[in-house]
Amino acid sequence: MSNRNILITGGAGFIGSHVVRLFVNKYPEYNIVNLDKLTYAGNLANLKDIENKPNYTFVRADIADLDEMRRIISSHKIDGIIHLAAESHVDRSIKDPFTFARTNVMGTLALLQAAKEYWDTLPEKYEGKLFYHISTDEVYGALELTNPEGVESPFTTTASSAEHHLAFGTEFFLETTKYNPHSPYSASKASSDHFVRAYHDTYGMPTLVTNCSNNYGPYQFPEKLIPLFINNIRHHKPLPVYGKGENVRDWLFVEDHARAIDLIFHKGKIADTYNIGGFNEWKNIDLIKVIIKTVDRVLGNPEGTSEELITYVTDRAGHDLRYAIDSRKLQRELGWEPSLQFEEGIERTVRWYLDNQEWMDNITSGDYEKYYDDMYQNR
Ligand code: NAD
Ligand code: DAU
Repeated sequence: MSNRNILITGGAGFIGSHVVRLFVNKYPEYNIVNLDKLTYAGNLANLKDIENKPNYTFVRADIADLDEMRRIISSHKIDGIIHLAAESHVDRSIKDPFTFARTNVMGTLALLQAAKEYWDTLPEKYEGKLFYHISTDEVYGALELTNPEGVESPFTTTASSAEHHLAFGTEFFLETTKYNPHSPYSASKASSDHFVRAYHDTYGMPTLVTNCSNNYGPYQFPEKLIPLFINNIRHHKPLPVYGKGENVRDWLFVEDHARAIDLIFHKGKIADTYNIGGFNEWKNIDLIKVIIKTVDRVLGNPEGTSEELITYVTDRAGHDLRYAIDSRKLQRELGWEPSLQFEEGIERTVRWYLDNQEWMDNITSGDYEKYYDDMYQNR
């Protein structure tokens, strides 16, 4: 199908902005509608470079508003949905679980129902349609550290090094791993995944789910580990390491996630699930040391200058010990693999945040939110 009307939700956020940019630039024949509520995490400055493209439209709306979803999906004649809008920060979910249930569960349900109702009215019904739901590895719970001392996270690992992948333990998440979420965030994402699959199994809606590991790269909201620490090092502020810094995360460059989403949207098997990950596990404290080393080098500080900023703080409640994605199904069936070595990805990321101080200052000052409030006041 060449002319498509694709709704991307959460496109003003971190991953969504990379997906919108990729689709708008790569598919000039598609109409891309970016639907976002512009919560604290949504920032249209993330899309400045493509905002005037003729195949791009932005709509401010709340996915939990069923009538709005009905109106938007039918008026734009949407035939494909890539659903990223969510409350995404574990720490916020611990303080305010209800907002997570409202957006992630009820919002996903409203979007599913609105798509179903619209597609049901069409003569061709579900043919050529797709509801693609973006989820997380956190739904699978936590893995053991069977090698608790770990191997010093090697800075020179290749992105697809299975050897490194196994450095912290012998188990990893497969598409068949049983759901076992621990935080209100992951519980809400798990619930939304179940609703998506239920719409396929009950109504025959063409759906797809992918579960990805931790993303890093430009435009991530600076309350998440990597941008927060880069910014704090720059301003010589403490680096709050939760617990002992022993938790392990599996990091993927955000543009590689966006490429995977593009591939799966076009070639993925309906009703299937794909795990997406970088084969790139890091113990938090090792990753933090790499960030410190890279930022110090780029800023011209003597090596090790900012290590004194490391501050061990109370651990996150229910902090999952280790995540590790096995994405070999996606490699095997659709030929995707991460394109970047971690060394290159982290260098690009550090340089991007240091070069884009204005973007960062706009967020930390809260100016970007005031701008939207004025702009959308009477809509
Ligand atoms: P983000 O917090 O940066 O962006 C979320 C976006 O959703 C924001 O633009 C926000 O304004 C919008 N939004 C929130 N509530 C909304 C609502 N009710 N209606 C409409 N829009 C709303 O998140 P992210 O890190 O880009 O994550 C995007 C998706 O990918 C999420 O579904 C998340 O669960 C998933 N995911 C994230 C990661 C990661 O490492 N960041 C990894 C795997 C999966
Ligand atoms: O695994 C995928 C998930 O990755 C996504 O589903 C989430 O949306 C995304 O936010 C991310 O969740 P994490 O909780 O892993 O990301 P965060 O950047 O908040 O934390 C990464 C690790 O660093 C985690 O073990 C907690 C720790 N941490 C985090 C912060 C913000 C610290 O030690 N100090 C901090 O200040």
